[in-house]
Amino acid sequence: MEGMDGMNGMEGHMDHDNVTPLQASEGIQELAIPPLLKREENAEFDYEVIAQEGTTPFFEGVSTQTFGYNGDLLGPTLRLKEGETVRVKVRNELNEPTTFHWHGLEVPGSADGGPSDEIQPGESKVVTLKADQPAATLWYHPHPHELTAKQVFKGLAGMLYVEEADASELPDEYGVDDIPLIFQDRLFNDKRQLDYEELMNNDGTVGDVSLVNGTLNPKLTVEKPQMRFRVLNGANARNYTLRLSNGAKFKQIASDGGMLDEPVEMEEITLSASERAEILVDFSGMDGDEPVSIVDGDGTVLLPFDLAFDPESAEAEPSSWESGEPFVTEEEKAMPVSKKIELFGMMEMVTINGKKFDPDRIDLRQEKGVPEVWEVYNKPDMMGGMIHPFHIHGTQFKIISRDGKEPAPNERGLKDSVLVEPGERVKLLVTFPEEGVYMYHCHILEHEDNGMMGQVEVY
Ligand code: C2O
Ligand code: CU
Ligand code: CU
Repeated sequence: MEGMDGMNGMEGHMDHDNVTPLQASEGIQELAIPPLLKREENAEFDYEVIAQEGTTPFFEGVSTQTFGYNGDLLGPTLRLKEGETVRVKVRNELNEPTTFHWHGLEVPGSADGGPSDEIQPGESKVVTLKADQPAATLWYHPHPHELTAKQVFKGLAGMLYVEEADASELPDEYGVDDIPLIFQDRLFNDKRQLDYEELMNNDGTVGDVSLVNGTLNPKLTVEKPQMRFRVLNGANARNYTLRLSNGAKFKQIASDGGMLDEPVEMEEITLSASERAEILVDFSGMDGDEPVSIVDGDGTVLLPFDLAFDPESAEAEPSSWESGEPFVTEEEKAMPVSKKIELFGMMEMVTINGKKFDPDRIDLRQEKGVPEVWEVYNKPDMMGGMIHPFHIHGTQFKIISRDGKEPAPNERGLKDSVLVEPGERVKLLVTFPEEGVYMYHCHILEHEDNGMMGQVEVY
């Protein structure tokens, strides 16, 4: 492009309107469902999570080197009950340091697994996790200083559920009608390896191959007419806009941190990196002759469905609830902004409030249990700017407003990550229930590794 020659360092800048489309899926393999993590009969700990190296046969005749938890790729689903306390032994069998971060779990800073909590190769420790928050779909992933993007790209990520203490009306049979869907995009080199150093992009590594739960070219056999999907955008950087290929609506029932105020009927949902949504899809009216899939914005098929339920099976009552109170009260809306966050830059030049991450610097302080209003501003640059998914550890916050306007109904639920458009100002109501030092950062993992991260000390 003319005039671009002098703009060194811009090459590879991720223009979100122009990301590489994902390749079409062939629909040839049944979707992998991550196993449930088994409870140990052990006095020292209840669960064990091991970060390890492995190989995965994505392509015929090639074994791709990957990372996984307790296996070759991704990790088992860890389910905690609301209010439950468990001890988890974490062990690093990689050849480099890692940490174990429980994304969305409101644990004390000391158990959060941020970058200062490195576990060296061969070492292990036991962390205590208390699920002291409403039922939600969370996840876990590594967070070592400047190595997060690489380790997630190689395969480290798993689902972490907080489950309702009592039985719910919602589909909840794991792997049958309650299914995790981890959407990720990956780039492979010409040897079909996930060579991060070779393939990485400082502005967010965007792949041209879609994986769902680590499965390339997946399909899902649907055995029940009413399905609950727990969707995670587990990509390093890509934003997904998911919809059903036949135009059918679905219901979003939960956001990052738990149930929405009320179910919201949707035609499509946009999730930036690290955001989650629980959705209910009613397949009962679909006859199976017309193919139906989850597709991305441009129509790329990500997950085709094979409808295999008995069409005669009783139509389940669609669950519904309504909240009596406003999600954010008038008093909360009137609270003054007390913390300002300015996201800026691209590539290696990303900053928060003009600074790069410094592990020895505390950027903000907030009192435990005291709500404050954070205003997050995504300052545009000469190229227009880009979306940054902004995430805070140790809290589930509420979105008060976007550019002064009420958030969409499907954002009236607890969140720990929020998509911020270039030029947008988002106000958040943030309360930390525990003490410690927590990260806040852009969840484009390369931006995080490039220092688009700060620390808040909760006292
Ligand atoms: Cu998903 Cu700092 O985390
Ligand atoms: Cu996190
Ligand atoms: Cu960013």
